Amino acid sequence: MADDAQPTIHVFGSLNMDLVCQTPRLPLPGETILGTHFQTVPGGKGANQAVAAARLGATTTMVGRVGDDEFGQALIDSLKDNGVDTHNVIVDQSVATGIAAILVDQAGHNQIVVVAGANSKVDDSDVQRLAQQLRPGDFLLLQFEIPVEVVMAVAAMAKKKGVTIIMDPAPAQSNLPDRFFGLVDILTPNQLEASHLVDFSVTDQHTAMAAARALVQRGVNTVIVKLGSDGAVVATKDKCFHQSAFSVEAIDTVAAGDAFNGGLAFALAESMSLPTAVLFASAVAACSVTQRGAQASMPTRETVKNLLKE
Ligand code: RIB
Repeated sequence: MADDAQPTIHVFGSLNMDLVCQTPRLPLPGETILGTHFQTVPGGKGANQAVAAARLGATTTMVGRVGDDEFGQALIDSLKDNGVDTHNVIVDQSVATGIAAILVDQAGHNQIVVVAGANSKVDDSDVQRLAQQLRPGDFLLLQFEIPVEVVMAVAAMAKKKGVTIIMDPAPAQSNLPDRFFGLVDILTPNQLEASHLVDFSVTDQHTAMAAARALVQRGVNTVIVKLGSDGAVVATKDKCFHQSAFSVEAIDTVAAGDAFNGGLAFALAESMSLPTAVLFASAVAACSVTQRGAQASMPTRETVKNLLKE
């Protein structure tokens, strides 16, 4: 923990430059359509989660890798501008910065292809650098845009240090080893990712709750299945509940899940109870979909408070 005894939120994961095309609709396979706007904006699930937590006011650090190129420098600058500690973001000379090609349609829906680049080079030396910083009571945010074996290694290390691990299992993974589930404190799949983790399709609140319960049985303490405009379902050993989504006009849903995870870590670090933290995280996600971009869409605490008041 930092000197002021507030837990620090550490993010170990990906940084991508997002190459975003706005289109009237998403193209069919083999189809060419005309887009309306193009932008390059800082993204990557890891970096987005770090910015989400930092904008809310948390002490936040990021561990990851970028290439020695313009995109890499811009990604580091974006984190710094948002108050994230970037000492452990390494510039890797051997490979380009990760990118994400993103299509966003008029309804705010998206499709994303990630080329991992420097994110694929994250290894045990990065785990060791993070280990120097962790204090019992801190929070660690993880995702799957870096090698799975490194995610397993960092979770195992953090678990021994008494850190709360919040895992976003995205991009979706199947066939994760059983020990993975025992390492994670809070698992936050969306509908698609939850379907990959259990042996049935998650299509609604009912199946999401069944999936959440099944994942708790596999060893996770708390499972939160994010259902977009249908809210989220939460399961622990003792309780299950549904949190409705806030009703807002969505213009861009990119990084809404990252906003949720950053908001959840912030809320728990502020000692909110689980139901209050899920409510708060839902509000952070709702605020983010009303703005364009990934990191650019993350709200301040004031903005979230205003939505909660409404
Ligand atoms: O979760 C949204 C993020 O996914 C984007 O910023 C993109 O970089 C991909 O990693």
